[in-house]
Amino acid sequence: MIGLMITGRPSPQREASGAIVELPAQLAGDALIDGQSPPADSYLIDWSRDRRGRARFIVRPGSVEDVQALVRWCSQSSVAIVVQGGNTGLVGGALPDNSDYAVLSLERLNRIRCVDPLDFTLQADAGAVLQDVKDAAEASDMTFPLALGAQGSCTIGGNVATNAGGINVLRYGMTRDLVLGLETVLLDGTLWNGMNGLRKDNRGYSLKQLMIGSEGTLGVVTGVEVRLSPRPTQVETAYVGLGSFRQTCELFRMARHLCSDLLSAFEVIGEECLPLAHLIDPNLRSPLTQACPVHAIVELACGPGIDAGGLLETMLTRALEAELIRDGVVAQSRSQAATFWAIREGLVEGQARRGFHVRTDLSVRLSEVPKLVEQARACIVREWPGWTSLTYGHAGDGNIHFNVLPPIDCEIGEARTVGQAVLTRLYELVGALGGSFSAEHGVGRSRSDVFWAGLSQRERQIHTAIKAAFDPAGLFNPGCLMPDRGDL
Ligand code: FAD
Ligand code: LAC
Ligand code: ZN
Repeated sequence: MIGLMITGRPSPQREASGAIVELPAQLAGDALIDGQSPPADSYLIDWSRDRRGRARFIVRPGSVEDVQALVRWCSQSSVAIVVQGGNTGLVGGALPDNSDYAVLSLERLNRIRCVDPLDFTLQADAGAVLQDVKDAAEASDMTFPLALGAQGSCTIGGNVATNAGGINVLRYGMTRDLVLGLETVLLDGTLWNGMNGLRKDNRGYSLKQLMIGSEGTLGVVTGVEVRLSPRPTQVETAYVGLGSFRQTCELFRMARHLCSDLLSAFEVIGEECLPLAHLIDPNLRSPLTQACPVHAIVELACGPGIDAGGLLETMLTRALEAELIRDGVVAQSRSQAATFWAIREGLVEGQARRGFHVRTDLSVRLSEVPKLVEQARACIVREWPGWTSLTYGHAGDGNIHFNVLPPIDCEIGEARTVGQAVLTRLYELVGALGGSFSAEHGVGRSRSDVFWAGLSQRERQIHTAIKAAFDPAGLFNPGCLMPDRGDL
């Protein structure tokens, strides 16, 4: 056992016993970082640099056995555990706000365990970076279709814990639809092994599905088995300009009917977002020849034997004839298509570069997307003139990121206060349309109040009972997803 000297506020345990914290020996050395030392910053500051957490220590186990040892130790010592993957989450779920808590980083548990071309499956440690999972699938002529801007940093375990979405959901589904099995460390340190590779398995409640989207509140995912798909040999991408979100939705319906399941992405970008991409790279310019209020990226993907290029041309010709689109460019190469996607990714990075912004992740029924955008835009113009609306997202899934930027000279304290009011108003709007305030990013800490307030008494009881079944001591990610036990 190793003594860990930490200068921060003493934990209740140390206050009670006066003892120094002791961790199993294999978790000391460079696996351990003091929560108040400078190297802790990269674990305690989020991607947008907008949120700063606090923790007693950060521990980075290198094996599943070490994760078990740590969880057992935390459980016996009543130390709360906040699991962290790539720390790219956008709702504060991986950032503890209490200097008694431990951050359990899975960055060292990052191996691709195996790729099985016979079963179309891949197994990986939970800390494997999503891009590495995708590359391993590609190397075996298959694809793991989960795709998001943070894929170079986020982990497959984090994707599972948040039920991540991204740009290919309309064809392949959310993470929930891609996971075949999980391996998870439970509160007493036991390992639940559900990595059976089965595509069909109706034996009782699905512990796997309960764990997916649970944001580190039920256990530590240490291994993930996913299903793979054949690697598309043809990918056709168009960048088009339209007059309105209503036309965008009509174009989506046309594309979905004509291209059916070959349609793999349908993303929208309000023209007002482009200056944000320019903040990252001035060369990220629209390929269109004229200004258009709404831009869309439409992608078809398939194997050989289908004229995907011809299908995309037919769809675009019909859309032009129906005056749905004003302008459009079909990528002539993979690298040209990458320039289209770079605009979509750049505008997200650009918001973090600019500073504090109101960030949302709204979803409504497909047919309600235009109404949501029109109402939200009108509301900002009317109630917060000087603030700038940005509309972009996964229109093919009814999932819009309607973000709002404060005036450039707005003092940060005022921006945060007004930003909270803006958020409340946007949640009212999406609620009135029967939608959700969290389509794909989760609840985390930043949305736990609004989540809990929106549940009925019965729903709260069920959530509390599920939590208690896995984590009776309330040590997994307190304050994330649901209020801390002390606040219930
Ligand atoms: P973290 O941020 O480390 O953790 C997120 C949550 O999961 C926390 O509650 C944490 O406690 C829990 N957790 C992490 N690992 C485990 C584990 N092994 N076991 C148990 N709990 C765990 N999200 C989308 O859905 N779609 C997008 O298109 C998208 N685009 C993004 C673009 C950018 C530029 C950025 C910065 C983020 C984006 N995200 C998107 C959000 C984010 O990337 C996802 O939520 C991702 O799944 C988080 O993975 P992570 O490994 O970084 O998890
Ligand atoms: C996106 C993230 C922010 O769609 O969800 O870019
Ligand atoms: Zn998104």
